[in-house]
Amino acid sequence: MFNRVCNVETIAEGAMRIVIADAHIIVLAWPENGAIKAFQGVCPHSNMPLAEAEFDGTVLTCPSHSWTWDMNTGEPVHPKESALAEYPVKVEDGVVYIDTEGVPPLFASP
Ligand code: FES
Repeated sequence: MFNRVCNVETIAEGAMRIVIADAHIIVLAWPENGAIKAFQGVCPHSNMPLAEAEFDGTVLTCPSHSWTWDMNTGEPVHPKESALAEYPVKVEDGVVYIDTEGVPPLFASP
């Protein structure tokens, strides 16, 4: 089920923000020249929230140990340990909706 998370004008192309959907912390990112994407908002390394992560318009960097992901795909850039789980997202009438059902966060192997 899609949950309303925010108005689309609260995110700009090349930026990211944290939203909550169905009690999940989610990174809502709009990569440059791409589409709005929704990924797990906790780091696969040690479950840290990615609220203070840096985003350069393509790559998201965890503030704790600098793991990075491509926000077009959620695939890891460095190290190649774990992707971020991606949630279905849609924009309708200026509102962003995310469906978290059946999408567990991913974690790197200990
Ligand atoms: S907690 Fe994110 S890289 Fe270590």
